[in-house]
Amino acid sequence: SSTFLLGALTVLLLIYLISSASFNTQDPPGPRPIPLFGNLLQMNLKRPYKTLLELSKKYGSVFTVYFGPQKVVVLAGYRTVKEALVDYDEVFGDRDPFLIVHEMNHGNGVVWSNGDSWKEMRRFALTNLRDFGMGKRACEDKIIEECQRLLEVFKKFKGEAFDTNQRLSYAVSNIICSMVYGSRFEYNDPEFTSLVDRMSRGAKLLGSPSVQMYNMFPALFKWSGARKELLKLSATSTKQNRAFFSHLQETLNPQMCRGFVDAFLVRKQTLEESGITNSHFHDDNLLMTVMNLFAAGTETTSTTLRWALLLMAKYPRIQVEVQEELRRVIGDRQVQVADRKNLPFTDAVIHETQRLSSIIPTALPHKTTRDITFQGHFIKKGTTVFPLLTSVLHDPNEWERPHSFYPAHFLDKEKKFVKRDAFIPFSAGRRVCLGESLARMELFLFFTTLLQHFRFTPAPGVSEDELDLTSAVGFTLSPLPHKLRAISRM
Ligand code: HEM
Repeated sequence: SSTFLLGALTVLLLIYLISSASFNTQDPPGPRPIPLFGNLLQMNLKRPYKTLLELSKKYGSVFTVYFGPQKVVVLAGYRTVKEALVDYDEVFGDRDPFLIVHEMNHGNGVVWSNGDSWKEMRRFALTNLRDFGMGKRACEDKIIEECQRLLEVFKKFKGEAFDTNQRLSYAVSNIICSMVYGSRFEYNDPEFTSLVDRMSRGAKLLGSPSVQMYNMFPALFKWSGARKELLKLSATSTKQNRAFFSHLQETLNPQMCRGFVDAFLVRKQTLEESGITNSHFHDDNLLMTVMNLFAAGTETTSTTLRWALLLMAKYPRIQVEVQEELRRVIGDRQVQVADRKNLPFTDAVIHETQRLSSIIPTALPHKTTRDITFQGHFIKKGTTVFPLLTSVLHDPNEWERPHSFYPAHFLDKEKKFVKRDAFIPFSAGRRVCLGESLARMELFLFFTTLLQHFRFTPAPGVSEDELDLTSAVGFTLSPLPHKLRAISRM
């Protein structure tokens, strides 16, 4: 057995020597990786962004870290992230899909794709979401209708404490349903609830440590339960969506598109009729783009709303100030997007919620499109890059109180709303969130309408101090499970 031990040690030593030889000294600095594991052993696997924040204190704003065998260059702080994503957007603008999402997307859709296909899908999605509402009155009306439905749901609890999670998810998902399929669903329609519940479960699984381990060591974690569950969820959603699509196809009227799917089907048909058979408008791109819009556009917005209500319950004086502003400027009528400019404090509270909660701490992984010397460091073409958005949203050089809930970050001396450059929860540059304007409209209308109608407080027996602002483990950072009371004000 001592011979075996000696043999094993020699092999390990050899691997170590080989891998240190390939450890490129030109790379941005970083902790020394060990063979196979890279820097995993020093990583907080549940909350990797925390380790990355710590490392940026030691190694600066551009550093290298190894997730297992995978090399990642991390960008930290406002100046660096902005320079990379905005000034060098062509170089830092490709996507590097996780292995698991690549298996599900195969380079289709908008979120995880690159090249011409990405460009076409992104352009088409942007134009059509705009046509079907985004930034338009039609969309505002849809959101307002959904706000009214949500009020009814909250009222039914008659001031008893409940978990706002699922109700907010349903309301927000319905906005995407209206825009994509052309109609909303009733909250008790099993076709709808299963769609939304599957989506939230998928988001949780995507951020789970075992799926992350699979992305790094596919051979070892291929059989993990989380991966299998995720693939199954995706297959079920695919089936359901294909059924929706064929129904829409059967009832299609090219003169009157009901939503994004109709517009896509019409475009596909037109291209086919003119003899173009190799366009990007094919069924797989339709499916993935639709699934992307749901995945990217529902959890994010509803999670932000959940943070907003939790923060209001925790800081009642701020809540009262919002309600006071709403009473003074709006009164009892329905809030409109056009009112935003007259509600500086409320607007500041929404911005500060997004800043503090920083729900997508590492953005989505980017990839360099060519070699570049960036801030004196050499970064090779094809390198995975994490723009550490949370380091910008909590950058001590940019924010007076980076770790507190402090709406004054967005107010000047006259209490007027001020835009802040370091406010980038939607990221920036070529890959900036496609749904930013829709999300901002939703956050504003849902938040103000809910606060006009309800006072949010902790559950009985829980003090404000006890409301925990720690975020749960997952790809998007959501609050830990909690209940709130929505006490009617009208
Ligand atoms: C991408 C944030 C809502 C659709 C992203 C990214 C972030 C983000 C950080 C990654 C950007 C990057 O890689 O640098 C948010 C937040 C939201 C929100 C905080 C809500 C509060 C939405 C909504 C939609 C949407 C409502 C859909 C209508 C997308 C898409 C991408 C994306 C399609 C991928 C863009 C691309 O790769 O070209 N979002 N998002 N998002 N978001 Fe959002």
